[in-house]
Formats: sequence, C-alpha cells, structure tokens
Amino acid sequence: MGLSKDQKILIHGGAGGIGSIAIQLAKHMGADVSTTVNVNDKQFVQELSAERIIDYKSQKFEDLLHDYDAVYDIIGGDTHKTSFKVLKKGGILISMLEHPNSELMQQYGVKATFQFTQVNNERLTKLAQWVDQNNIRINVDRTFSLDETGYALDYQKDVHPRGKVVITV
Ligand SMILES: NC(=O)c1ccc[n+]([C@@H]2O[C@H](COP(=O)([O-])OP(=O)(O)OC[C@H]3O[C@@H](n4cnc5c(N)ncnc54)[C@H](OP(=O)(O)O)[C@@H]3O)[C@@H](O)[C@H]2O)c1
Repeated sequence: MGLSKDQKILIHGGAGGIGSIAIQLAKHMGADVSTTVNVNDKQFVQELSAERIIDYKSQKFEDLLHDYDAVYDIIGGDTHKTSFKVLKKGGILISMLEHPNSELMQQYGVKATFQFTQVNNERLTKLAQWVDQNNIRINVDRTFSLDETGYALDYQKDVHPRGKVVITV
C-alpha cells in the first residue's frame, strides 16, 4: 500500500494471525496505527504498540477515526464497506477478503485493492530478517502436531487465538 512514516492506518482484527503482524510491520515503517479488536485482546495489541485500540463490539470505528491514509481489512462485509468512510481522499483500502467496489471507490475518491497472499523467497527472506532483528514478534498461541491438524483448525475457528496457531511437521 506504499505506507510511509507518520501516515495513519487502521488495521482491523489486530489481535489475529494477520492483524498482529500487520500492526508490527506498520509500526516498523513509522506509521500511526489504530486497530479494532475484541475487548479481551486490548492488552495484547497494546503490547504491539498500536496507538488507538477500538473494541469492535461496543464502539463504532467510523465515528472515531477520520482522514486515514490507509485501511487494512481482514474482516470483510459491513466492516469493509464502512471502512471507506474513515479514509481521506486519495487513501487506500486493502482487503484480504473483498474485491474492490468501484462505486464506493468513486464515491469516496479512494483506491481499493484485493490482496491475495503471494509467498516467494524474497518476501520470506525479508520477513525472516525482520523477525531476527526483533522488528516483528510472532505470538504462537498454541502448537499442534501434524496428526492434530483437524483440532488445530477447530481451535483457530472456535477459540480465536491471539497471533498464530502452529502445526509442527
Ligand atoms: N486473501 C488472502 O490471501 C488471505 C490469506 C490468509 C487469510 N485470509 C483471510 O483473512 C482473514 C483473517 O485471517 P487471520 O488468520 O488473521 O484470522 P484470525 O487469526 O482468526 O483473526 C481474526 C481476528 O479478527 C477479529 N474480529 C472478528 N470480527 C471482527 C470485527 N467485526 N472487527 C474487528 N475484528 C474482528 C477476531 O476477534 P474475535 O476473537 O472477537 O472473533 C480475531 O482476533 C480470514 O478470513 C482468512 O480467511 C485471506
């Protein structure tokens, strides 16, 4: 998304597997980070240094945040549509779930993109360097063995872990 120092970004679902790393990447780039989480996860994202933490069940992020440079959406649906409102003109909305809605893009004068995970050596090497340099901390919520993969998927779905669930091979 071309995020740069001091730009304001809203990251939805900041306590999850993707969100918890997105917060740290954005902070590493010097951005000002707001995030939406479940109330039980507030302390966890505070430790990741998010500036503003919004309880998505009791607060409306669109009433609290305005003129944002970027939104990172891993929730989709209404959260995705409402996110257009917090962007300033020329801002960008990246979603892991929703394809760009050209009507909303035009209405708010912003860009929107769908992102699909694309893993390659260069990106993984860069990420590994950032982990080695302690720029990113990976919170492993729980580890399962390969033959427990089914339980791991249920755990991810039902328990909503903080950070990542790992399967050891
Ligand atoms: N496009 C791609 O390439 C790609 C790649 C990987 C994953 N994905 C998708 O991205 C999504 C997120 O993946 P993940 O691994 O980060 O999931 P995750 O670890 O389950 O994290 C999701 C987080 O979002 C929170 N949440 C739920 N509803 C919310 C709302 N309305 N507002 C704000 N936060 C909310 C959850 O909190 P609660 O505990 O309160 O529910 C949870 O902490 C999944 O749907 C996944 O399928 C897409």
